[in-house]
Formats: sequence, structure tokens, C-alpha cells
Amino acid sequence: MDLGLKNRVALVTASSQGIGFATAEAFAAEGCRLAMCGRNERTLATAAEKISKRWPAEILAEVCDVTDSAAVSRFVATTVTKFGTVDICVTNAGGPPAKEFLAVSMEDWHRAIDANFLSTVYFAREVIPHMQRNRWGRIITITSITTKQPVADLVLSNAVRAAVVGLVKSLANEFGKDGILVNNVGPGFTATDRLKELAKARSAASGKSEDEMFAAWAADAPLKRLGDPREVAETIVWLASERASYVTGQTILVDGGLYKGL
Ligand SMILES: NC(=O)c1ccc[n+]([C@@H]2O[C@H](COP(=O)([O-])OP(=O)(O)OC[C@H]3O[C@@H](n4cnc5c(N)ncnc54)[C@H](OP(=O)(O)O)[C@@H]3O)[C@@H](O)[C@H]2O)c1
Repeated sequence: MDLGLKNRVALVTASSQGIGFATAEAFAAEGCRLAMCGRNERTLATAAEKISKRWPAEILAEVCDVTDSAAVSRFVATTVTKFGTVDICVTNAGGPPAKEFLAVSMEDWHRAIDANFLSTVYFAREVIPHMQRNRWGRIITITSITTKQPVADLVLSNAVRAAVVGLVKSLANEFGKDGILVNNVGPGFTATDRLKELAKARSAASGKSEDEMFAAWAADAPLKRLGDPREVAETIVWLASERASYVTGQTILVDGGLYKGL
């Protein structure tokens, strides 16, 4: 299937590892020009190198902390200087720590709001004017299954990501007339470093081994396994493509069926 993405400019944030990295690579595989970022320069450079060894993609890899609005503004400006525009913007960031409500400090709340909500606001403010000029654009947020089904001890994610869904729906409503489609993708338990951190936290709290944690997550999903970051990435690429041209304002879970609702 031709996804119609060749030469599109795809900016993927927090893309040096995990789901962000898999997403960046999947856009490179479709012939997109790619802008990627992360905070650690070496990890980011290694990630960009890995992609450029596999795909003949033009890549801009820039250190940018997505919680810093000035840095976001500079990153988008550099992308536009190099590639002329931004067609696709995928917003991602590291996940908040696993804690129950009374263990969460106010600093934790502010950090989660900065990383997992305001970062998307910063990028949307920067990229939408370019997309309006082109009368074409895609904004895709990476959140979590917690947008549909709260997860015990992830109160930060359960609460803060709901704001992203409200933002996604609002942007979809406001900018649909400009040809800009805005959607949200919620991964279930996906095999990345983030999941290893969660397993460690749960294991310390419960006395069960990390392997038991992974096995329990896998068993809970109808597909009886964890997700692969590439499976989340493929859904994001489809949403960005011409093949999803009448889909906007939606949250799509990539969770192996883990969400228990209708
Ligand atoms: N894996 C899962 O099972 C799962 C399930 C549901 C939701 N999610 C959510 O999906 C998102 C991605 O998860 P993941 O599993 O791919 O995480 P990951 O493996 O820990 O990777 C996180 C990536 O984000 C970058 N990053 C973190 N904070 C950043 C910041 N402030 N600015 C720029 N880059 C930043 C990291 O690089 P640097 O550290 O160098 O910045 C790294 O490249 C998270 O929000 C996570 O909560 C994951």
C-alpha cells in the first residue's frame, strides 16, 4: 500500500529510544525527511546513526528537552530552516514515575504536566502555522492506555494524559478546516526501557520478581504478549498517511486488546 508519505517532513520528539525511536525509523522507512530529538546527545547521535545506516533518509538530530518551550521553538525553527516546513509532528516524552496518589509530590505533578501535557502544547503552537500554510498537517500524540483505562499506581499518567486527549479533540475541531488531522495513540504494555523501569518499581513494591511483572502484563492482554515498539510506530505512520485522511480527533490504543471496555 502506498502511504503517500515520501518526502514529507516528520518531526518525532523524544525519539532516541523506545517508541519514539521506532516511530522515527518507521517514517524514515517511508521516505520521510526526519527531525528527531532527545536530551542525551550521545544516545540521540547513536539513534540517528542507526537509522541512517538502514535507510537513505535525511535526518536532523537535535538535543531538545521537550519541557523547555524556548528549546522547542529553536528545534522547530532549525527543522524548518533545514527542510522548509513540518508536515507531521509526533509528540512524545518520557513517562511519569509509578506512584500512588499520596506518594506523589507537587514537584512530580508539575514535572508530569510539563513533560506529558505542556510539551504537546509547545510543539502544536510552533508547527500549526506551517501546516496551515500548506493546508496539510498531522499531529499525533503518544500517550498511554491510561487515557481510556486508569492503571493502578500511575495516577500521574491517568490524570495528566486526559488533558492531552482534551487538547487533541480541541485541535482536531479547530484546525480540521485547514487540512490538519490530530489524533492520539495510546500504547499498552510495550517492551521498552520505560517498561523495565515500571517493572522495577512494581517489583520493589510487591516483592515479586521483574519477570513475574512482565508475565502478568502479557497475560492480561488478549494477545498474551507485550507490544513491540514497532507495532505502535506502524499505527502512528498509518495515521500520518494519506490512507487515514478521514480520521481525526481519535484516540487509538495499540494495546493487544488490554483495554477492557467496549
Ligand atoms: N513502554 C510502555 O509500556 C508504555 C506504555 C504506555 C505508555 N507509554 C508512554 O509512551 C512514552 C514513550 O515510552 P517509551 O517506553 O518509549 O520510553 P523510553 O524507552 O523510556 O524512551 C523515552 C525516550 O524519550 C526521551 N525523553 C525523555 N524525556 C524527554 C524530554 N524531556 N525531552 C526530550 N526527550 C525526552 C528519552 O531520551 P533522553 O532520556 O535522552 O531524553 C528516550 O529517547 C512515555 O510517555 C511512556 O509513558 C509507554
